[in-house]
Amino acid sequence: MAIKMIIDTDPGIDDAMALFYAIADPAIDLLALTTVFGNVTTAQATRNALFLLKTAGVDVPVAQGSSQPRKLPAFPPSAHVHGSEGFGTLQVPKQTAQVIPESAQEFLVRMARKHKGELVLCAIGPLTNIAAALDIDPEFCRNLKRIVIMGGSLGAGGNITTAAEANIYHDPHAADFVFRKGCNITLVGLDVTNQVICPRSYFAQLATQSPKLGGLLHKMADFYIDFYETVGKFEGCGMHDPSALIACSTPELFVTEDHKLRVICSGDRSGETVSDQNLAAEAVKVCVGVNISLVKQKFFENVAKLK
Ligand code: RIB
Ligand code: CA
Repeated sequence: MAIKMIIDTDPGIDDAMALFYAIADPAIDLLALTTVFGNVTTAQATRNALFLLKTAGVDVPVAQGSSQPRKLPAFPPSAHVHGSEGFGTLQVPKQTAQVIPESAQEFLVRMARKHKGELVLCAIGPLTNIAAALDIDPEFCRNLKRIVIMGGSLGAGGNITTAAEANIYHDPHAADFVFRKGCNITLVGLDVTNQVICPRSYFAQLATQSPKLGGLLHKMADFYIDFYETVGKFEGCGMHDPSALIACSTPELFVTEDHKLRVICSGDRSGETVSDQNLAAEAVKVCVGVNISLVKQKFFENVAKLK
């Protein structure tokens, strides 16, 4: 049976890749999207989520989430990475479809209760909505099957600062809170996603197989790869969010280690994820190894089918 899934997202170019992957993979039954700030503002994230669903011809609810971090003031969006509207140079039209009249956090709590023990939450933005859902219902995580999070780094350093990965950096207090709450978490961080790098030619080929949706990703990826080239370490772009989706449906492509995690919440190292075996917290399954070629192949094979 397909995995019942909600994706919490800040679309974002690699979020668009992840969403199209989720739609294409028959092992995933996408129930809804919830939105959060990060790559863009929350209002832009919601508009972008509605745009992606409409473009893909998929009708699932979208619930809008928090517009600023748990304790910190709002950050400017990552326009140099994802473009001023989130999708490179694409101008995203205003959407006529509406969000549901329930906040992301209320919706997540309700859906976790309704699908108790069956729902997988894949969080590919800052963890603000997840922390807020735990504020409403301390049993929230226990009602989920598991949470798969794109975020953090154990040994790979950061991507927004030298120490921090972007999703954790944008709301370190939320991430620290969620990591200590005894949730069944798999963390798909930079230790693995920095290894899954796809060049321009990969997206060009995808566009020939799937001209509409693969073609859209090809256009977006061009902007994203331009940014990666400025970093100088990569020939292509990191498949961060799609890797998290693939870890939901095909966990055997990843090697995990158990770590109790905390997050540094201030100073130069704010947003750094730290393994600390002395913590009174449940261990997180941190991905430390990945079958790079099979992850790339799986993404390609599934998204190439999309019309
Ligand atoms: O560090 C990568 C993560 O930050 C991805 O989720 C990307 O979309 C950005 O939000
Ligand atoms: Ca994201």
